[in-house]
Amino acid sequence: MNMKKNCAIILAAGDGTRMKSKKPKVMAEILFRPMIDCVLDSVYDAGIDDVCVITGSRADILESHLGNDIKTYRQTERLGTAHAVKTATEFIREHIDANVLILNGDAPFMDSETIRAALELHEKGFVQTVISAIVDDPFGYGRIVRSKTGEFKAIIEESSADSEIKKIREINSGAMWFKADDLLEVLPKIGNGNSKGEYYLTDSVEINIADGKLVAACTSNNPDAVLGANSRKQLAELNETARLKVIARLLNTGVDIPCSDGVMIATDADIGPDTRILPNSLIKRGVKVGSDCVIGPNTTLEQCEIGDGSTLNNTDAQYCKIGSECRIGPFVHIRPDSIISDKVRLGNFTEVKNSQIGQSTSVSHLTYVGDSDVGSDVNFGCGCVTVNFTGKKKYRTKIGNGAFIGCNTNLIAPVEIGENAYTAAGSTITDDVPANALSVARARQINKEEWVIRNQPYRREIKK
Ligand code: UD1
Ligand code: CA
Repeated sequence: MNMKKNCAIILAAGDGTRMKSKKPKVMAEILFRPMIDCVLDSVYDAGIDDVCVITGSRADILESHLGNDIKTYRQTERLGTAHAVKTATEFIREHIDANVLILNGDAPFMDSETIRAALELHEKGFVQTVISAIVDDPFGYGRIVRSKTGEFKAIIEESSADSEIKKIREINSGAMWFKADDLLEVLPKIGNGNSKGEYYLTDSVEINIADGKLVAACTSNNPDAVLGANSRKQLAELNETARLKVIARLLNTGVDIPCSDGVMIATDADIGPDTRILPNSLIKRGVKVGSDCVIGPNTTLEQCEIGDGSTLNNTDAQYCKIGSECRIGPFVHIRPDSIISDKVRLGNFTEVKNSQIGQSTSVSHLTYVGDSDVGSDVNFGCGCVTVNFTGKKKYRTKIGNGAFIGCNTNLIAPVEIGENAYTAAGSTITDDVPANALSVARARQINKEEWVIRNQPYRREIKK
């Protein structure tokens, strides 16, 4: 093991009482990403890859989310942030000659530049470097107390602050660098003699100063970096900040968002210029959209790639690929593992699942295409169904190029429709149809003359 390697500890054991949720607080999402993942991203981006997470409240949920790649330590009782750090004593010992970054798992905007800038200052000989920022509304945060000459003196928590301290707008982000050996030295000295009876990591500042050690507060240029979410209200505020930031970035690169009402776009979205995003559209993570598209209104995309010049109106698409110049919607559902080629038309109330649809194929209305390989230039009439599920097993349907599937056709899979074949409306196709054939699979029509007059089947009396 490389003893000199800097590492990070993310505190995520808190009960999150103010969030009033069944989930751990750090699993609450900002733009579709759990806060803990946002923090992890920044830590890795800053070049720190030795990371552990302190879990506690609903630890099983958080641990299964993190998976096996990230070390976790359980804090079985929530006795405060200093106590949380103590549970990772073994991890700190493994990095005894290096620096340890402590972060709060509920501060999703902490960025890698801020982390690196603080480390640079820290390495000038400080034993502890706290990341701070000046914010408009410091309520609830620990205040950075400085002397008249600007020397960093202490962090005072909101609950212990008098009215003068409460006026201070420089706050503690909760993120701080320590030298590992000094961190191990200061932890046992922290007491819990405050109104909440908790062991506050923030008390380490005063203790270090009293011990004659050098501490620093590194003020971030990004005031958002320090914001944390303890309540639903704060979570919504952070989400709004993040939302407007993504929208501003996209507007700058030529994306057209004429009204951002209800538009929420994940930070990793890649959207081409002249694409228009209309209200109530959610672009979740892993989405790439080309240029000249229209997305929305009321469209949700997740993990999908869309070519240029396609229109998706009132559409829900996940884990799929959509080509260029497609016309999709309204009220279309494209489910995982679907590949929609260029110039395809998917009209109202159509659903596509785990299927490939060839170029210029048209599925205009009220049709379900599941587990199918559909060629190019195919036309589906209204109300067609690929009958893919027996109740136990799923089977595929294959449709050749240029085929015409008449209205209300049931295709009972496994079945194959040859190229240019034509199925009569209302057919239930159970056997393969050869190329160029017409298939009619329905009962012949019988007309019984004057049957209604003889039988009077309805309320109204029918006379001859
Ligand atoms: C903390 C800081 C405060 C800072 C603010 C920034 C302390 C005492 N206060 O306050 O100075 O301005 O963050 O957002 O550090 N946690 C545990 N175990 C515990 C308690 C907390 O793991 O026993 C975790 C929480 O899950 C959370 C983080 O530590 O991720 C901070 O705890 P929280 O209770 O949110 O502290 P704040 O009141 O926000
Ligand atoms: Ca917090």
